[in-house]
Amino acid sequence: MKVCVVGSGGREHALAHVLSRTADVVVSPGNPGMADPIRVTGRPVHEIEADLVVIGPEAPLVDGLADRLRAEGRAVMGPGAAGALLEGSKGFMKQVLAEAGVPTARFAAFGAAQRDEALAYVRRVPGPWVVKTDGLAAGKGVLVARTLEEAEADVAAKLSGTAFGAAGHRIVIEEALEGEECSLLVLFDGTTAVPLLPAQDFKRVGDEDRGPNTGGMGAYAPMPHIAEAQIDAIMATAVEPLIATLRARGIDYRGVLYAGLMLGDDGPKVIEYNVRFGDPEAQVVLPLLSCDAAELFMAVATGTLQRIPSPTFSADAAVCVVLASPGYPEAPRTGDPIAGLDASGQSTAGGAGVTVFHAGTSRPDPAGPFLTSGGRVLGVTALAPTLQAARAKAYAALEPIHWDGMLVRGDIAARAAGDPVGGGAPDEAEELVR
Ligand code: AMP
Ligand code: GLY
Repeated sequence: MKVCVVGSGGREHALAHVLSRTADVVVSPGNPGMADPIRVTGRPVHEIEADLVVIGPEAPLVDGLADRLRAEGRAVMGPGAAGALLEGSKGFMKQVLAEAGVPTARFAAFGAAQRDEALAYVRRVPGPWVVKTDGLAAGKGVLVARTLEEAEADVAAKLSGTAFGAAGHRIVIEEALEGEECSLLVLFDGTTAVPLLPAQDFKRVGDEDRGPNTGGMGAYAPMPHIAEAQIDAIMATAVEPLIATLRARGIDYRGVLYAGLMLGDDGPKVIEYNVRFGDPEAQVVLPLLSCDAAELFMAVATGTLQRIPSPTFSADAAVCVVLASPGYPEAPRTGDPIAGLDASGQSTAGGAGVTVFHAGTSRPDPAGPFLTSGGRVLGVTALAPTLQAARAKAYAALEPIHWDGMLVRGDIAARAAGDPVGGGAPDEAEELVR
């Protein structure tokens, strides 16, 4: 099978990596870390012959790329614009969740002309408050405000349009949910929904969840204490009612439904829905697939999930640690040469079960060094029989990788692995791996 993956980040590298086990994969436009047998091309997807197109990022989905390709008769994994609006507009998502009766945070939405109403609302409802831009902001337009002052300042900044441009002209103000976060990626073919392994993402830029929200600084899967019965409960309360509502609205959704959940004492609540694989969640969930990913994604695209066996997973655990540019998320500096990568872009300390996924790299001279070219630059993923061993292996593999000012969290998966959370990267990483 020939598969075209659309996109250029770490998620698309992970998609191409897992698809290339059984399929011939070309990525448009891809990045220079996507090495043989994966091919990259500067040609647009419309010009590429492929049996299946997998669209990675949210922006082309919201923009209707899947609709245009389907109109040409192509098999596509990824929702059309009507379904992608779930992520394109938080207001729309909240409306659909309310219609479906899916538990979520209480909220109110405001436009640019409603600054006074928005400020009156934060003064009226108890904090902490979560202030979000309504449009796409790559997971970065969210502030959890603990003081009224902070909340008021953020509402005013976002609605003035200075903070996030057009994406900030409408905002949603939510109650803050308490509990443990979980990302559940669900494959949905329009009729049948199957969950993948539950993953946890680390959203804040700094250790122990300090600093601003980012697109995600690391992830692990599966979440060890989440039993299958809990996944069933999440499907029943948070996913199936949404699917029924999408169908009732006549939306033919074929792709990934990514439920961002807060697991609290009173059951799962939905923080948000995304319409694509999570990034970096994809870098831990996809490598654990032990079935044929191309066959699975083709079934999503063609509405035939029911006819193939359920997806299977390796018994290993996976940990991904993201390496980011200094200044991320506000103003990442780029163009720095990266040390510690071999000619194919993998860690010089890598080995079996380790993959470096490239997210924001360039290589102006194909024989020269990789340079940083984005906020999130690399995701170092390791697989091992236990979460603790996978974590140690990931940190050992990233040891030689370096550039000036590189940001890396030391506590990815620490709590879940039973490692000390304030201790940074595991000390005996080397010993644990070998
Ligand atoms: P979002 O872009 O909606 O996924 O928000 C990004 C991150 O902000 C989430 O992954 C959470 O860590 C945090 N967050 C968003 N909404 C809430 C909420 N209502 N309660 C608590 N945390 C939240
Ligand atoms: N890791 C969060 C996201 O993909 O939105």
